[in-house]
Amino acid sequence: MKNYRIGIFGLGTVASGLIKILKKEKINYQNRFNVNFELSQVVVHDLQKKRAPEFDGLNISDDPAKIIEDPAIDIVIELIGGKTVAKNIIEESLQTGKHVITANKDLIASEGRKLSRLAKEKHVGLFYEAAVAGGIPILRSLSNSLASDEIEQINGIVNGTSNFILSQMRQNKISYAAALKTAQEKGFAEADPSNDVDGIDAAYKLQILADFTFGKQINQRDIQMGGIRTITQADLQDVTDLGYEIKLLASATVISNKLELSVAPTLVPKGHPLASVQNENNAVFVNGRYSGGLMFYGPGAGEFPTANSVAADLIELTKKIDQPESFNTNFSSDLTLAKPKDRIASRYIVFNVANRPGVMHKLSAFFLMSDINFRNIRQYDPVGDNTRVVIITYPASDAQLNPVKTTIRKARGVEIIHEFKLLIEPKEVTNA
Ligand SMILES: NC(=O)c1ccc[n+]([C@@H]2O[C@H](COP(=O)([O-])OP(=O)(O)OC[C@H]3O[C@@H](n4cnc5c(N)ncnc54)[C@H](OP(=O)(O)O)[C@@H]3O)[C@@H](O)[C@H]2O)c1
Repeated sequence: MKNYRIGIFGLGTVASGLIKILKKEKINYQNRFNVNFELSQVVVHDLQKKRAPEFDGLNISDDPAKIIEDPAIDIVIELIGGKTVAKNIIEESLQTGKHVITANKDLIASEGRKLSRLAKEKHVGLFYEAAVAGGIPILRSLSNSLASDEIEQINGIVNGTSNFILSQMRQNKISYAAALKTAQEKGFAEADPSNDVDGIDAAYKLQILADFTFGKQINQRDIQMGGIRTITQADLQDVTDLGYEIKLLASATVISNKLELSVAPTLVPKGHPLASVQNENNAVFVNGRYSGGLMFYGPGAGEFPTANSVAADLIELTKKIDQPESFNTNFSSDLTLAKPKDRIASRYIVFNVANRPGVMHKLSAFFLMSDINFRNIRQYDPVGDNTRVVIITYPASDAQLNPVKTTIRKARGVEIIHEFKLLIEPKEVTNA
């Protein structure tokens, strides 16, 4: 039996779940994997905080050195979140030759490559399955089961808060503000929900997914970003009538060696598996050249699902511990980032149009200028002097659409309210 000593930073939601799992599954892990995990030390921020009685008897301190400088601790688990302190903890732990497991998406999105290089240099493991889609084993599936495949596209619903808000808006026919309030009351959204509703949290996860899948280090500025704040009941009604659901999708697509990245509200056809993902659940849909379309679905957060991903990292680490070269692969590809001419999609565009003769004709002429054809056009009853007009285009590139938008911005009587893409699969782009 191999014995591993563990130090955990944090005793919040995920760390509590992990400690409970390790206690409950101790004998199971001994029998199945021939390993014994011994929790040597927990380090928290506030020593005065009252802890659950089940944590009585743990060694709890507020001194990071109790873990980092203890040569007997083999594995450090960072579950405090944030960037600065967590980065120092992980760097110092790796420097002293300790393996590290974390669930910290913000940090891994920006520093993952650097930290993985350090881990490789020190012949130790750095694992972070829980950082993307909490309880869904997506990173390990990509690096193990799908390693033989050529992945063409990934589409993820990886932010449970925004998916909950959109689901509530559609199911209960309520406004964005009312759905956000429900999400806050249920503890799914923070007082300042910006990270979730503006796509920032999903972008962190997309950075990690894209690096893992396509071997490309991504900056957040390389991702076309959009959030859900402006979505209205009128949009949901349109979209439902047209046979779609709106989802905040984190997408990475490779077409002709170009990588296109976006986090944006996207129209997903009702028959697509991603359309059925409701409320706080997460899902990642992977299009592989050989495996076809696979969906990974489940809880994207929560005490036990997330802690289980951390525990799975522990087991994986101990299985590989005698082959340190297999820990961190440093996979790199020569993909380049897609340019506006490579970004092809059908769009759902909502306009506010002056209710007077000739304006619709003018609007059509703007699109004709860039050779963009309409697949569907809807004009609503006027409200006051204006009319809501919705256009769905055939696939067109950003390079075609951008000049149209510039012209519209300068024109009188036509205003773009917002624009969402339709989910488009790689083969549709190739044929467009
Ligand atoms: N919650 C989820 O469902 C979920 C899902 C996926 C990923 N994650 C990630 O998992 C990580 C942990 O999340 P969580 O929800 O468990 O957080 P949490 O409930 O807020 O707990 C954070 C813990 O970290 C401790 N802490 C904060 N600053 C510290 C410091 N400087 N030194 C030592 N300890 C410190 C806190 O100590 P005190 O108890 O003393 O305040 C607390 O116990 C984050 O990176 C998060 O993004 C969470």
